[in-house]
Amino acid sequence: MSTYLVRKGHSLTGEITVPGDKSMSHRAMMFAGLSEGTCTIDGFLPSEDCVATLNAMRACGVGIEADSASDKGFGPTRYVVEGKGCQLTAPTEPIDCGNAGTGMRLLAGLLAGQPFVSELRGDASLSSRPMNRIVTPLAQMQARIETLGGDGGCPPLRIRGGTLVPTTYTLPMASAQVKSAVLLAGLFADGKTTVIQPIMTRDHTERMLQSFGVEVVTEGTHISIEGGQPIKARDFHVPGDISSAAFWLVAAAAQPGSKVTIPNIGLNPSRTGILAVLKRMGAQITEIIDEDHGEPIGRLEVNGAGLKPTEIGGEEIPNIIDEIPVLAVGAALAPGTTVIRDAKELRVKESDRIDAVVKNLRAMGGDVEEAEDGMIIHGGKQLRGATVPSYGDHRIAMAFAIAGLFAEGETIVEDTACVNTSYPSFESTLKRFI
Ligand code: S3P
Repeated sequence: MSTYLVRKGHSLTGEITVPGDKSMSHRAMMFAGLSEGTCTIDGFLPSEDCVATLNAMRACGVGIEADSASDKGFGPTRYVVEGKGCQLTAPTEPIDCGNAGTGMRLLAGLLAGQPFVSELRGDASLSSRPMNRIVTPLAQMQARIETLGGDGGCPPLRIRGGTLVPTTYTLPMASAQVKSAVLLAGLFADGKTTVIQPIMTRDHTERMLQSFGVEVVTEGTHISIEGGQPIKARDFHVPGDISSAAFWLVAAAAQPGSKVTIPNIGLNPSRTGILAVLKRMGAQITEIIDEDHGEPIGRLEVNGAGLKPTEIGGEEIPNIIDEIPVLAVGAALAPGTTVIRDAKELRVKESDRIDAVVKNLRAMGGDVEEAEDGMIIHGGKQLRGATVPSYGDHRIAMAFAIAGLFAEGETIVEDTACVNTSYPSFESTLKRFI
């Protein structure tokens, strides 16, 4: 079993580069594959989750060539994709989505409109995650999807694709994955499909489809797409992932004396909620946007000043949903009480992240109360090194490696192979600061 051994670290200084954005890498590979021509994707995240999506597109007949010169040790980041237009070919075997909820849910939307049968599978964690949230709206569009994983609406998914009818669907939960699955299916429906979101969620699908020449109309909480639009080929640069930068943002902000720059990072406002939360916690962070070709990209500069408590909840939750585990670690380092609420979705991520964070913080001497939709953290107690599980969840493994940098003694994070799903180079950066 791979583990991290972490000791109390020193202040973080210098430049930290993080790999490509996971959400954008999945989408860029799918849209390039559906495009009518040749696209070059650079900055792609060669993690297990995104490579599973790449392999899924290959299995559907898309030609994808890796540029081996772009491999800096963790896999190629540059690919030339020969799009097949919106007509894919039937895969000959079940498609393995690995650990990736985003990959499976978006591919389900896309495959629902293809005239063949396909099957999507996942690892043990993905096989226990809820899929009825996409099956219900896609069934409304007359897609025929069976969940083969027991009564709970879990994977594998058997998709009998075909002609779809448009729909108007109000999301029962704030989920960009569900929104995107419906919009992608909407591309293959005859007419206008509208998704109504209760709260704004990450809008990479809308932005990226537009940059691939597809008209997507956003009017307040309503997002609409007309079926039958072609996807134009274009090159796409995937910026660094702010959800991966989050680990260093929290560590640097919490450690007085730190001075860190993170270049080439995606600064889409539907993802930068972590900066607002950290600023409320007293962090000194500067955001500099360098370019914007559909997605704002820039630099973050952090000066460590220590953290103070805050309240986290309401409309900001979808924006920071993936950053809450490491924000909870930051809250444990901030003297005073931090409340996290309205975050029940954390219970159906790669692990039950409320349960995992509460158990691991307690194991390290933290004072934390569990709530159904979040937690109350009484921060400022000196953390102690401990052996903590990752629960097979990449963000739990990385969040508790960061906790280890602030704990007395040694912290062992167990079962860290899961980090390869989103951030294969995490450990090499971690070692700089131990
Ligand atoms: C993602 C959306 C979020 C997030 C996930 C990536 C995406 O999930 O947690 O890591 O790329 O659309 P939900 O939309 O289900 O909350």
